[in-house]
Amino acid sequence: MIDKVKQYLEQVAQHTIANTEELEAFRIQYLGKNGLIPALFKDFTKVPKEARKEMGILLNKLKTEVAHKIDSVKAQLEEQSMQTQGTEDLFKPVACNVGSRHPLAVVRQEIIDIFSRIGFTVSEGPEIEDDWHNFSSLNFPEEHPARDMQDTFFIEKNPDIALRTHTSSVQVRVMENNKPPIRSIFPGRVFRNEAISARAHCIFHQVEGLYVAENVSFADLKQTLMYFAKEMFGKNTGIRLRPSYFPFTEPSAEMDISCHICGGDGCNICKYTGWVEILGCGMVDTNVLQNANIDTEKFTGFAFGMGIERIAMLKYQVNDLRLFFENDIRFLGQFEATL
Ligand code: DAH
Repeated sequence: MIDKVKQYLEQVAQHTIANTEELEAFRIQYLGKNGLIPALFKDFTKVPKEARKEMGILLNKLKTEVAHKIDSVKAQLEEQSMQTQGTEDLFKPVACNVGSRHPLAVVRQEIIDIFSRIGFTVSEGPEIEDDWHNFSSLNFPEEHPARDMQDTFFIEKNPDIALRTHTSSVQVRVMENNKPPIRSIFPGRVFRNEAISARAHCIFHQVEGLYVAENVSFADLKQTLMYFAKEMFGKNTGIRLRPSYFPFTEPSAEMDISCHICGGDGCNICKYTGWVEILGCGMVDTNVLQNANIDTEKFTGFAFGMGIERIAMLKYQVNDLRLFFENDIRFLGQFEATL
């Protein structure tokens, strides 16, 4: 019997265990109810007195060796499985990739910062808008062809509820709820039923600006926009205002900036004109002020609206609008995480 135990001791030392199933089989083989060790202890009573001491020592040794082997293999297997799961040390310092801000968020914040510096606050309005705020209050008469300027996603008809087609819809909301002086910008998402291409999308972003107070003049508008253009595109940027038409402003204009790529010499960004269009603007039409119950004897105002995508495309020289919406991290990763 002593030889048998010695043989087991050797077997235990040499036994290789590769996984938890094998470990459990090993445990049962030696320590299980009908295992080898309980059987040896049972036979111990039959061992002659003189051999008992040696036999007892060997048997206990076998039992501890087996228990020890089980513990150490178990710890080893646990560590292996943690490593394959990648959670070996939760406190280990790691080099983690800091994400970058989306270029549209960067430009939006820059526009907000620029206007905040000259006292404009930020307001927001709903993306689902009624006809009054998106069209009628802004002087788009019913059936007026001007409504065709923007293809609208209607949600309900009669009364019309639609996804707003421009952030100008926030103008009257803000004037209804605040007394002049009002000096605010309204950034937000807008929606138009347009085919998606490199130059157009059905969802895009705008920032609207509104200043209503006593004695607000076209000169104030021009000065404000010139300040904006220089802050956004650099000190040497020039502006030019071209007469235009919008139902909600009179007079209305479109603003171009001198091409910041070629400095006005002509390149393919400015189509060799030296100028690129960046926004629409004008003096708030008296009808619009009256629709918001503003005293037009006392107050005048200017408004402007620009596309964030357009500014971002010019600033970063992106030639396909769709890149902003595809979320390809090779594109997005080029923009700084700061700001
Ligand atoms: N709402 C116009 C658009 O989406 C942009 C615009 C033009 C806003 C002139 C204005 C403005 O406030 O005065 O095309």
